Amino acid sequence: MSQTDSGTSDNETVERICAAHDHRADALIEILHDIQTAQHCISDAAARLVATSLNLSRAEIQGVRSFYADFSTAPRDPHRVRLCRAEACQSLGADRLAAELDAAGLDHEAVYCLGNCALGPAALVGEQLIGRATAGRIAAVCAGVHRDD
Ligand code: FES
Repeated sequence: MSQTDSGTSDNETVERICAAHDHRADALIEILHDIQTAQHCISDAAARLVATSLNLSRAEIQGVRSFYADFSTAPRDPHRVRLCRAEACQSLGADRLAAELDAAGLDHEAVYCLGNCALGPAALVGEQLIGRATAGRIAAVCAGVHRDD
């Protein structure tokens, strides 16, 4: 696929995602999550399209994109483990989970809010957001195995 084809395809993906959320500004986080999942990042071009589609300023998109650690401007290491250590996830066992990951020898880094607070503790393995994370599920995702426990 040529660069132009890829760019057009990426633009169509962003437009489709915005349309699926009825171009609602109050769905911005969900839209950005969907773009992050589909394209493994939220590029500057995608951010501009979202701003136009939702009738928001680029600064508003950039503010949300840069606030949540779940969002990136370029694709990430697929095995990088990031564990939310913010308050909501701490109250749901993030500290215990960090200790379990340490005991299992899984490298991880702390981030502060992945935008998945209701399903804490939340973790991110590469691009995959994991809610109600356990050491077993994180290890399985790192190994490329999908589990639902
Ligand atoms: S506090 Fe952990 S995802 Fe928001």
